[in-house]
Amino acid sequence: MLSGEEIVALCRQYTLYDWMAQSAADPIPVDTAKGVYFYTTDGKRYIDFNSQLMSVNAGHGDRRIIEAIKRQAEKLAFANPFMAHEPRALLGKKLAELLPGDIDKVFFTLGGAEANENAVKLARAVTGRYKIVSRYRSYHGATGAAMAMTGDPRRWPNDLGTSGVVHVLDPYHGPQRDVDSAEESLRYLEETIQLEGPNTIAAFFLETVTGTNGILIPPDGYLQGVRQLCDRYGILMICDEIMSGFGRTGAWFAVNHWNVVPDIITMAKGLTSSYVPLGAVGMRPRVAQHFEKNVFYGGLTYNSHPLACAAALGAIQAYEEDDMIGNARRMGEVMKRHHETLRKKHPSVGLTRSIGLFGILELVRDRKTMEPLAPFNGTSDEMKAVGKFFREHGLYTFVRWHTIMTNPPLCINEDELAEGFAIIDRALDIADQAVA
Ligand SMILES: Cc1ncc(COP(=O)(O)O)c(C=O)c1O
Repeated sequence: MLSGEEIVALCRQYTLYDWMAQSAADPIPVDTAKGVYFYTTDGKRYIDFNSQLMSVNAGHGDRRIIEAIKRQAEKLAFANPFMAHEPRALLGKKLAELLPGDIDKVFFTLGGAEANENAVKLARAVTGRYKIVSRYRSYHGATGAAMAMTGDPRRWPNDLGTSGVVHVLDPYHGPQRDVDSAEESLRYLEETIQLEGPNTIAAFFLETVTGTNGILIPPDGYLQGVRQLCDRYGILMICDEIMSGFGRTGAWFAVNHWNVVPDIITMAKGLTSSYVPLGAVGMRPRVAQHFEKNVFYGGLTYNSHPLACAAALGAIQAYEEDDMIGNARRMGEVMKRHHETLRKKHPSVGLTRSIGLFGILELVRDRKTMEPLAPFNGTSDEMKAVGKFFREHGLYTFVRWHTIMTNPPLCINEDELAEGFAIIDRALDIADQAVA
């Protein structure tokens, strides 16, 4: 058996890490995991306050998901996408029940980016239009169209500027400016649509609740207004629920909070709780109908992979049996109180936001000016020190720019939440020292 040090050394030597200069890679040698905790090869325990990548929604080591994968592996590990098989049949039917409104057909992919690629493909085929409108504060994945739709700086080095994507501003403009009202934001969006030429736009592509770019919860009326604008101009509304879906916000899908049904919805991550890679594109009958007579020019070797479909059925069983969606809602209220307590106690906590177990703290140098504790797309000594404190004290979460994410698995209980927030509380003493 390899030691933690050997694992880290080999991983660094032979494999490439995401989104960083490789000299900066400092991975944790993770060995096992159960519930809201994971353990290193040396037995160090971390509380997982980010569900790994906002994705292990059912928590680690859930027997129902593991057994579902094992049973399927014994029976039929793979069938090509032209076959029909039981996990594909049952998962398709189950998703049609769970997905919002009349969305009742899915195309399965390997992950989130591929789901978004295929959503774009569907939208272009159905509308006969090419352009996609998306938002700056967004992440939609690291492949061609998904990367082009992404608005955040991860797009910059990847963007050829020829993708047919037009970016618009979000209602949120950073901690130093007010959030636009739904009306303001929609007025701007409509003007953009008119100036671009409504007949050239296939879809408006948006994260229902924005994830890594700040847990941005749309102002009331915004999503309903987007739905109306899309209907007015014949544009498809596509909601990326890759991070916000499967209970993260305290509802099966975030759009449910506003009773809006998009034409297309994309999902991944929580679909299997990430035990096996799987994504999907869900579509309404009016989208699916187009492909009854027209060829769907798309395909993937691993479309409807039996192991992945079985894992998703296991994950959905876990969510339902333990009412994890309800738990996310209830524990979401507890989390809100923790956020509020931290904001009252620590001058460095400028803003907090959360919906269900999807939460963020925005740290600032000064509550009057709301100057962030690290610049846009950058870091600072203080944020690095906060991250280091988490690592040393056994809390795992994303520390990004001037923010701290709080996105634990949906099986978390009050004591475990308190345990995680106690570590964050102590780390914030470091951030407070930077406050003017
Ligand atoms: C909102 C959103 N869309 C798309 C993706 C891309 O998913 P994947 O990494 O599975 O390709 C992510 C991943 O973090 C995401 O958060």
